[in-house]
Amino acid sequence: MAVNEETRPNAAQWKNWNEVSGPKWVRAAAVMEQRLAPVNDLLLAHAAPRPGERVLEIGCGTGATTLLLAEAVGAAGSVLGVDISAPMLALAEARLADAKAAQARLLAADAQIHPFPAAAFDLALSRFGVMFFAEPIAAFQNIAAALKPGGRLCFAAWAGIEANPHWQAPYAIALRALGPPKPRPARSPGPLAFSDPEYVREILAASGFAAITITAAPVALAGREAAEEAALAMLFGPSGALVEEKRPDDRLRATLLGEMTAAFARFPTIPGGAPRGDIALAATVQLVTARRR
Ligand SMILES: C[S@@+](CC[C@H](N)C(=O)[O-])C[C@H]1O[C@@H](n2cnc3c(N)ncnc32)[C@H](O)[C@@H]1O
Repeated sequence: MAVNEETRPNAAQWKNWNEVSGPKWVRAAAVMEQRLAPVNDLLLAHAAPRPGERVLEIGCGTGATTLLLAEAVGAAGSVLGVDISAPMLALAEARLADAKAAQARLLAADAQIHPFPAAAFDLALSRFGVMFFAEPIAAFQNIAAALKPGGRLCFAAWAGIEANPHWQAPYAIALRALGPPKPRPARSPGPLAFSDPEYVREILAASGFAAITITAAPVALAGREAAEEAALAMLFGPSGALVEEKRPDDRLRATLLGEMTAAFARFPTIPGGAPRGDIALAATVQLVTARRR
C-alpha cells in the first residue's frame, strides 16, 4: 500500500530530511564528519560496543558513526542503521560498500514506528538522530522493544543554544536581521528539542528505560576558517533554520554572511590550525545512557 506522505507520522521531518536538510548534509558531509568526530569518540567510549554485539543505530544519516560501530562489533556482530532520509542513506550505502563493512545494513524507515525485531539488539545508539520524533515516548517505546532486556541505549543530543556559542552567535545575528521564527510549541522536533535533561529523563522513564544518566558533556569541535563557518551557519543549526524560513534576498544574505564571518573571526583559533581545523568551537552535548528495563 502506498504511504500517504501527508499523514504518515513525522511527515514534516520526512520532507525536511529528504528535501531540505538531508541534501545540505550530503553536500557538506566531509566538513560535518570532521567537525562531529569528537562526538563519535564520546559515544563509543560510553556505549562500549563489543565484538559480536547487535547494534541499532537511530538516524544514521550519512553513515559515519555506522562505520565505526561496524568496526567495533566486527564480522561476528551486526549494525542496523535506520534513517528516513533517502539522500543521506545513499551516501551511507556508498561508504559502507567502500569500507566492505558487510556486517552493517541500512534501512529506510521511521524509527518511531518501524516494527523492528523484538528484543533483538544489545545496544541502540544515535548521534543527533533522536530529537526529531513527533511522539518521543512512542518512539522510545519502539526502540526499547527492539532492545534485549537490560540492553543499552546511548545517544548524544545538543545541549541548549546558550551552551553552544557556534550556534548562538550566528543565530543572534540572523534574529536581529530577520526577526523571530514563527511560533512553535516548546520542544517541537528539532536539533534543540532534547536540550532540557529533565524532559529527556521523563521521556525515557515513560518509555521503559531505567538507569538513566544525562551528562552535559563539553566537546571541542574543530571549526573551519571564519568565512566557511559563516557559510555553514547560513545552512545549518538554528540560524540556518531561520534563514530557510525567512528566505532573505541576496543582498541581506551577503550582509548576514559578512556579520557572521566577523563573529566567527572572534572565536579562538586552534593552535597549529588546518588540517584539523582553524577555529575552536567549544560545544556542549547531552550525553544520555540508559538500559531497557
Ligand atoms: C542531525 S542528523 C544526524 C545524522 C547522523 N547521525 C550524524 O550524526 O551524522 C539527524 C538524522 O536523523 C534522521 N531522522 C530524523 N527523524 C527520524 C526518524 N523518525 N527515524 C529515523 N531517522 C530519523 C534524519 O534523517 C537525519 O539523518
